[in-house]
Parts: sequence; C-alpha cells; structure tokens
Amino acid sequence: MKSKSGKRIGIFGFGCVGQGLHDVLQDNPHLEVARICVRDREKLRTLPSHSFTYNPQELLQDESIDLFAELISDPKEALQIVRQALEAGKTIISANKKMISENLTELVALQQEFGGTLLYEAAVCGSIPILRTLEAYYGNEPLQEVSGILNGSSNYILTKLDAEGLSYNEALAQAQALGFAEADPTLDVGGYDALHKISLIAAHAFGAVIKPEQVLRAGIQHIASRDVTLAQALGARIRLVASARLNKSNKLQLQVLPTLVFPSSELYYVEAEFNGVQLQARYAGDQFLKGRGAGSHPTGSAVWADVSAALAGYKYNYPKFKYNDEEQLKPVVLEEDDELKIYLRTTMPELLPELPWLELTSFGVDARAGQLVGTIRRKDLLLHLPALKQTIAFIAQLPVHVTAEQVINASGLVLEEAA
Ligand code: HSE
Repeated sequence: MKSKSGKRIGIFGFGCVGQGLHDVLQDNPHLEVARICVRDREKLRTLPSHSFTYNPQELLQDESIDLFAELISDPKEALQIVRQALEAGKTIISANKKMISENLTELVALQQEFGGTLLYEAAVCGSIPILRTLEAYYGNEPLQEVSGILNGSSNYILTKLDAEGLSYNEALAQAQALGFAEADPTLDVGGYDALHKISLIAAHAFGAVIKPEQVLRAGIQHIASRDVTLAQALGARIRLVASARLNKSNKLQLQVLPTLVFPSSELYYVEAEFNGVQLQARYAGDQFLKGRGAGSHPTGSAVWADVSAALAGYKYNYPKFKYNDEEQLKPVVLEEDDELKIYLRTTMPELLPELPWLELTSFGVDARAGQLVGTIRRKDLLLHLPALKQTIAFIAQLPVHVTAEQVINASGLVLEEAA
C-alpha cells in the first residue's frame, strides 16, 4: 500500500544501521517501508516476518518502490545491489564506505550514463553532514585540509584506555556490543575504515580518486598501556587521525595514523564514539564539525537525511573532479618527500628493518621491547611500513615540536643510544 505522499522505500539489511533507519522512519509518515531484504531466515527479528524478503530481486524489480537504502556489510553484495539499481536509473542510498570508496569511478560513471542517484553521507562520520558540506559549501572554494577522527570504534577504544584504564580487548568488546564496530572489527582498529572514509572525503574535497596503497595507514591494534601513559605524561592523547592535506606545492598528503594530539587541538576533546572533522578553507578559514560517528540512530539519521534529499532531487556534483580531453579523471599529485616524525614501540626489536631515518633516537631497548623516535620521508615510511608492521609495532605520529628527549623523559626510561 502506498503512503499519503506515494513514496516507498526498499531497505537492504537490518543490522545496526538498517534498524536505526527503520526506527527514525517511524517519525516520517510520508515514507512507507516496502520491505526489508535480509539474508538469514533463522535470525530472530524485532519485526514480523512479512516485513522481510530474502530475495534482493523482489525489491530491485518492484516498480512501486521509489528508492532504496543499501545497508548491508558485505561489500561485494552491496556493489551488486547498487550497480543494478544505478543501471536501472534508480535512486539508492548506501552506507558502505568500503564498497563505495573502492568503486567510486564506476559508480559515478553509472550515474552519468543511466541518470540514477547514489548518496552516501552515512558512509562517512555517521551523523556528521560532512559530504554535503563539502559539496554544497566548498564546491568552489579551494580547501587546504580536511582531517580528523573518522572511526568511532577506535576512538571509543582509545578513550576507554586513556580515561578508564580498560584493556584493549575489554574496550573493543564494548565497542562491538554497542554496535559501533564493523562486522569485521579489523576494519576499524586497522585503520581501513578511516582510510575508506578519507578516500571519499578526498574525492569530494580535492577531486582525488585514490588507491588505498597510496595512503600511509597504521592502526591501533598493537597499542599498549605504556603508549597511553607516555602520551599522558606528555600532556597528550592518542587519536587515530585521518587526513587529506594540500601542501605548499599543491601536492596532496594522505594518511591514517595514530597521532599524539594536544589540548590546543579540537581533536583532543573528541571522545568515545564521536568523530570530529576539521576543515581548512582558503577564504572561510578553519571549521570544526563534531558528532556521533557510529551507532544505530545517528547513522540511521544520516541515511534518512539522504533519503529526504534524494526525494527532493539532490545529487552529488563532484565539483572538484577535473577531466582531461578524453573525459578521464585527471590524477591528483601526491606528496612523497615530506618528513614525518614518528614514535614506534615494538615487542620484536630484533626484527626492526634498517630504515633510511633522517634522525633516530632509540630507547628502552632490550630483548623484549624497543622504542624509538625517528624522522623519515613519507615515501620511505610508505615503502617500509609493511615490514615495520611485521614487528607488531605500535606507530604514532608526533607533532614536530615534540622532541625525542621529551618522549624519553615521559616514558620514564633512560636514553640508551642516540643518532
Ligand atoms: N565502524 C564504524 C565506526 C561505523 O566505528 O566508525 C561508522 O562508520
């Protein structure tokens, strides 16, 4: 049956976000949920069984449905659904950042060819309206930087380690129980989820379609309480920060790295599952957006906002994309030669590879552990990061003003060797 306005939505997925969307739609009498497509017939659900279908085609081929929301976790299935909807010129809202970021060029081309619409605000920073802000407000104005805390689960874990002294596993279990984490939480704690989100931000903010391997990425899996207390002793907090920043020569720096943030940064005050995004625009100056980055209702709210916008005819314009004469997207030049100062702690110091450090101070080295503060070029760190990760290392970026001596003092250890 049609609702008063005649609009019907078909939903794929009834997990944390699908249920969140269903809840918030209860406040919208103008939109009727046609049916919800799920995979598992046996799972106990909060709605009667006639609300569900198990066959995606029953939704995709139902001409009485005006638009779809794709909210499943499997990126391959999500891509098939979104592709089929767009090839039919339909409107679909998705929250699957992995699927969208890895297939963005194709998904944009499908919209151009068949006239359909794909919106995905809920894929980036949960409830924060970052993509539409980039599109609608900064479509023309050049941006210097968009960076921040883009993953609620890892921020929840880092907050719990810092403020409550919880163990990593306890904090991760809480983030999963609260519905913040991905079905595979490695995506969260390994920095992949933040990478997918910063890739989407880079497309809307800088017109850059990037490959995951171009982004310097490290996660928080190997953080230990001694890293947290070291940061505290320095007056800082550890946050997983993703950034896309244009340097003075207009090259884009991209990274997802645990980072020491100080009280002078807005990111210091972003706690639990909240996300925070800082924008630096040429004329508007600095802005900061903060809000819930994960969770059923906040993410459902972002999907609802996209549903309403799509019904009003809204589409992304990708205003920063630049095309060559063959109508191919021009690649954006990435920075490789800038220098990063990093803190590293490993439990396997004997496996640490020889790296072309520009400066290096190591400390606390014995058979079971080793710590270092070093400065290295981005391209060298990018090249050697897989080998460093094999040493079960926790890696964090330090602001340039933090000296090796300050880090050693904060660690309570004595200097063993300096270069
Ligand atoms: N797992 C994601 C997070 C959900 O923790 O941020 C929201 O994208």
